[in-house]
Amino acid sequence: MEGKIIVVTSGKGGVGKTTATSSIGAALALEGNRVAIVDMDIGLRNLDVVMGLENRIVFNIVDVVQQRCKIEQAAIRDRRIDNLFLIPASQSDNKDVLTTSGVERVAKELRKQFDYVIMDSPAGIERGFENSIIGASEALVVCTPDVSAVRDADRVIGILYSRSLTPKLIVNRIEPARVRRGEMLSHEDVMEVLSIELAGLVPMDDKVLISSNTGTPLVLQNDSKAGQAFRRIARRINGEENVPFEVPTDKTNMWSKIGKTFGLRQ
Ligand SMILES: Nc1ncnc2c1ncn2[C@@H]1O[C@H](COP(=O)(O)OP(=O)(O)OP(=O)(O)O)[C@@H](O)[C@H]1O
Ligand SMILES: [Mg+2]
Repeated sequence: MEGKIIVVTSGKGGVGKTTATSSIGAALALEGNRVAIVDMDIGLRNLDVVMGLENRIVFNIVDVVQQRCKIEQAAIRDRRIDNLFLIPASQSDNKDVLTTSGVERVAKELRKQFDYVIMDSPAGIERGFENSIIGASEALVVCTPDVSAVRDADRVIGILYSRSLTPKLIVNRIEPARVRRGEMLSHEDVMEVLSIELAGLVPMDDKVLISSNTGTPLVLQNDSKAGQAFRRIARRINGEENVPFEVPTDKTNMWSKIGKTFGLRQ
């Protein structure tokens, strides 16, 4: 059976695409899948650092598309998580070096070799974004609870629909205390405006920064609320039913936790 290609996108920059790609990819591998995460942010390159694999890069996705090497030569195997591979971006090229037919050919090959391929897209809706949706059969839109992120996500969702992709939503960096103080949109506001199916809710969590600075997978940190949220998203993607949508809370009180935990239809 052929694997699935999932593109992670957002419109606005800095909302958590790379964090989501690395975490969901790692979590899907922990669920027993063979997973490739691909950095399509050509010219910048981030995913390798977040995963702590920057010292092991030999070839990159541009080399694969331009047939200078095979997928197997560019894919870096993660030594901490079985069946997890990273195909890094190139830092020296610009995004125009990738041709549609070249990316299509590689996407087809990736589907043969992996159960899941997660594409980390660059911010914006230009060429780099277009390159990363080629070959994708599913899309995740990451959005933070702020007005500009929601507006950009809305635009991207429209584009994805026009390419026959039905995106699902990840609301990231949720901060309940700031929502209560009226400083931030709630995740319900975001969900209502964008009105697409929910993939998951991810809280603001200091462990995210620590994990990306030290190159340790967030999902291996059992005390990370964001890591747990990404693991639940991966289980849903992997077809598990009735994985609860835990609403982030800053209260440690048990009653508050029980009250705020509910199961939404998937
Ligand atoms: N849930 C979270 N809690 C705390 N910090 C987070 C969370 N998600 C992401 N971050 C932080 O936000 C910053 C941006 O995240 P990330 O690089 O994943 O965004 P991006 O959408 O890939 O950005 P770009 O558009 O530049 O590629 C990083 O410093 C990351 O550690
Ligand atoms: Mg990024």
